Amino acid sequence: MELTVLLASSLMLCFSIVSTTASILDTIVPGQSIKDGETIISTGRSFELGFFSPGTSTNRYLGIWYKKYATGTVVWVANRETPLLDHSGVLNFTSQGVLHLRDGVNGGIVWSSANLTKPPKNPTALLLDSGNFVVRDGNLKTSNVDYLWQSFDYPTDTTLPGMKLGRNLATGMDWSLTSWKSPNDPARGEFSLGIDPRGYPQLVLKQGNNTIYRAGPWNGNRWTGSPKQQSNSVYDYWFVFNEREVYFAFELINESLLSRYTVTASGATGRFNWKDDRRGWVTYFLMGADQCDIFAKCGPTAMCDIDGTNYCNCLDGFRPGSPADWAVRDWSGGCTTKGPLGRCRKGEGFVRLQKVKLPDTSGSWFDRNLSLKECRQRCLTNCSCTAYSSLDVTRGGSGCLLWFGGLVDLRAYPDNGQDLYVRVDASYLASIKKKKRKVVGMRIAVLISLVAVVVTVIVLGWRLCLGKIKQRYQGKKKYRARKGSNNDDLELPMFDFTTITSATNNFSDDYKLGEGGFGPVYKGTLCDGQVIAVKRLATSSGQGLEEFKNEVVLISKLQHRNLVRLLGCCIEGDERMLVYEYMPNKSLDHFIFDESRSKLLDWQRRIDIIEGISRGLLYLHQDSRLRIIHRDLKTSNVLLDIDMNPKISDFGMARMFGGDQTEACTSRVVGTFGYMAPEYAIDGLFSMKSDIFSFGVLVLEVLSGRKNRGFFTSDHGLNLLGHVWKLWMEEKPLELVKEEQRQIVVSDSRLAALIKRHIHVGLLCVQQEPEDRPNMSTVVLMLGGDSLLPDPKPPGFFAERKVPETDSSSSYNKSRSIGEITVTEFIPR
Ligand SMILES: *[C@@H]1O[C@H](CO)[C@@H](O)[C@H](O)[C@H]1NC(C)=O
Ligand SMILES: *[C@@H]1O[C@H](CO)[C@@H](O)[C@H](O)[C@H]1NC(C)=O
Ligand SMILES: *[C@@H]1O[C@H](CO)[C@@H](O)[C@H](O)[C@H]1NC(C)=O
Ligand SMILES: *[C@@H]1O[C@H](CO)[C@@H](O)[C@H](O)[C@H]1NC(C)=O
Ligand SMILES: *[C@@H]1O[C@H](CO)[C@@H](O)[C@H](O)[C@H]1NC(C)=O
Ligand SMILES: *[C@@H]1O[C@H](CO)[C@@H](O)[C@H](O)[C@H]1NC(C)=O
Repeated sequence: MELTVLLASSLMLCFSIVSTTASILDTIVPGQSIKDGETIISTGRSFELGFFSPGTSTNRYLGIWYKKYATGTVVWVANRETPLLDHSGVLNFTSQGVLHLRDGVNGGIVWSSANLTKPPKNPTALLLDSGNFVVRDGNLKTSNVDYLWQSFDYPTDTTLPGMKLGRNLATGMDWSLTSWKSPNDPARGEFSLGIDPRGYPQLVLKQGNNTIYRAGPWNGNRWTGSPKQQSNSVYDYWFVFNEREVYFAFELINESLLSRYTVTASGATGRFNWKDDRRGWVTYFLMGADQCDIFAKCGPTAMCDIDGTNYCNCLDGFRPGSPADWAVRDWSGGCTTKGPLGRCRKGEGFVRLQKVKLPDTSGSWFDRNLSLKECRQRCLTNCSCTAYSSLDVTRGGSGCLLWFGGLVDLRAYPDNGQDLYVRVDASYLASIKKKKRKVVGMRIAVLISLVAVVVTVIVLGWRLCLGKIKQRYQGKKKYRARKGSNNDDLELPMFDFTTITSATNNFSDDYKLGEGGFGPVYKGTLCDGQVIAVKRLATSSGQGLEEFKNEVVLISKLQHRNLVRLLGCCIEGDERMLVYEYMPNKSLDHFIFDESRSKLLDWQRRIDIIEGISRGLLYLHQDSRLRIIHRDLKTSNVLLDIDMNPKISDFGMARMFGGDQTEACTSRVVGTFGYMAPEYAIDGLFSMKSDIFSFGVLVLEVLSGRKNRGFFTSDHGLNLLGHVWKLWMEEKPLELVKEEQRQIVVSDSRLAALIKRHIHVGLLCVQQEPEDRPNMSTVVLMLGGDSLLPDPKPPGFFAERKVPETDSSSSYNKSRSIGEITVTEFIPR
């Protein structure tokens, strides 16, 4: 398995070290000072402390930055709010063990470390290899508790290994991170990451005073709203919560690696690891990936479900507080009970919601010593209690967490969530009991009929595949397999195994067309001369034979001139094969990214291809009865027939394999504030609007002849989407067209307008917010019409589909991350 990550350049936190400076060891003692131009360096040369000017600013700040690797990435700033305006600054160290940063011109103190209650006998100030700048009494041994003062207690925007993120409950000291105002100004910006100690503590990201993302309470292993932490070889992490302090911290397993938590000036918050071979920081994950991560998007007592057509749904037994708002997709009002409010009526009970991110705990109550049973009782007897859950899920679950009032910021979390028990009234409880009885009855009936069907089909399949019926597919004729003796027509386009082996010369390598995410594809020729493409599926999808056949039948019914036609399937033992019509001209990527072949695609052809793809996708999304989300639309999945008409392939694979399976081997999607962990992506981000995004990327690739991934402008380090956006903002979109073709375009005003329009639509499709992206019918209208188009918002920061060894797409978000580039890569888990 691979993990998808982002590479973020260190531009934002970096400054160029202009002149090499005089360095004095790693220690200063009273009477010594550090002038602007001098630095101290930790013994292992990991960190350096001195004066710097960030970005384009000329102000001077005292700070700490990486030295040996990631040189110049600032991790701590002393005088972030009080810059020095010239190079006169000097850091003095007093005999009382206090550090003073003085303005050399007038001697005024612009920053100082805390006064010490007991003056030390023999103070020294020392920059440690951890990046911690500490004051200690020289007579004492080195140990954290002995530090009289340490920079780790005053974080700026970065948490380093060994540093605490949280707060000291005894002293009130706040170890939270606050972003810089801008890459040029380390003053406190609008984003902050810290532990909210109210109720049961949770990690929250704020913008100003507003919570914008919540990682959820700690459940013993991790924050309930964050992906399952894989065991990794980079870092170890833990959470401490007692009377004195509450914090999250991590430690590197291999000290020679670099890793940090940072809140950037644009609000992108997460873990960044240094890749020395790339000389850049790689984003390991970002917080807040998708719509359901937006704090309280659905209001109280509603569940956010990223896979749903509506993101927000009321919990069972509740209904929208304001149906009018819900109708226009404003869900923030949440849901209320159907009956009158007020609890503790007779017969109340709980329903279990499985696999959810636990709701906001800032108003909750907890007890570590209660069992789940006692917890239930505690909730039932307290009339304002609305829900309960286990506090700690390790060792079979323990502790008790109670909620009062609305349950806010709840989301479905299929892979990582935990159970929540929500209080419901007697009538609702009675209604689900009734339903359950009905369901059990129905299940038995269904089971009986299923057994009958399976038996019939197995008998039938046997006869078909083993050649008892020696018919095979010819031209447009289909098998009419009769289901037993009843008259339900079930069209089963089933191929004989021996037919397939002889058509493909026993799957000989000479007949192999390629290898897709689902297995190799072979060319074959049937006895009557018809040419087919056979996709030999990688085995063991875990899906039943019957389900597989049903999907094949359904998908073979999807017929559109811009979809590759599925002719049928063949099943032999564990082996499953799909048989398609053969496309002689290979795939679109084969043409557009190839210097010479791309010349075969003139502009009208390209426009036609885009239009064809849009119609095929519209059919998948809206016109077919199945409403298929493609999930892996890309240029290599668009095939070209003999007349260069585009045909989308590989649709319906997600259905055929069951959602998770497909994604597990083919796709990753990551969003702006995304946790980059793949399972998160698998849970989350697919919807029709993610297909729209892929379509937008595809459009821009066809027009530019460049791959989104792997394309970087030399001057700005942008990917293709970033590049298009930049050109768009500079009002010269046609520069997207390759230079050698630009003259043709510019000299034809009709063509120029058409291409501009396509770029415009492409940008609308790749907008960051799924809700902003048009749906497919609108896209088709936009491409074909001459209506006024809305202004695009900045493109999504990042979204990618990935099949090992093939391409993926990434994108760039200007609004959120100016100066960051993104690159995708695989790193082993
Ligand atoms: C601070 O250090 C500078 C340079 O060493 C020195 O000139 C100055 O007198 C010191 N100031 C104080 C208050 O110790
Ligand atoms: C430290 O002590 C000095 C003088 O005793 C006082 O002026 C200053 O405000 C104190 N600083 C802090 C941070 O308490
Ligand atoms: C945030 O809250 C504090 C204290 O309640 C208040 O003083 C401040 O003005 C608020 N800031 C904003 C941006 O609303
Ligand atoms: C630590 O990482 C470095 C660089 O990746 C590697 O060379 C070294 O072997 C690793 N050390 C351990 C103990 O894993
Ligand atoms: C929980 O149990 C521990 C050990 O059994 C005990 O020390 C502690 O006081 C208990 N806490 C509460 C809140 O009852
Ligand atoms: C319910 O629990 C809350 C929190 O512990 C408490 O403040 C409130 O008094 C309790 N109400 C009742 C009726 O027990």
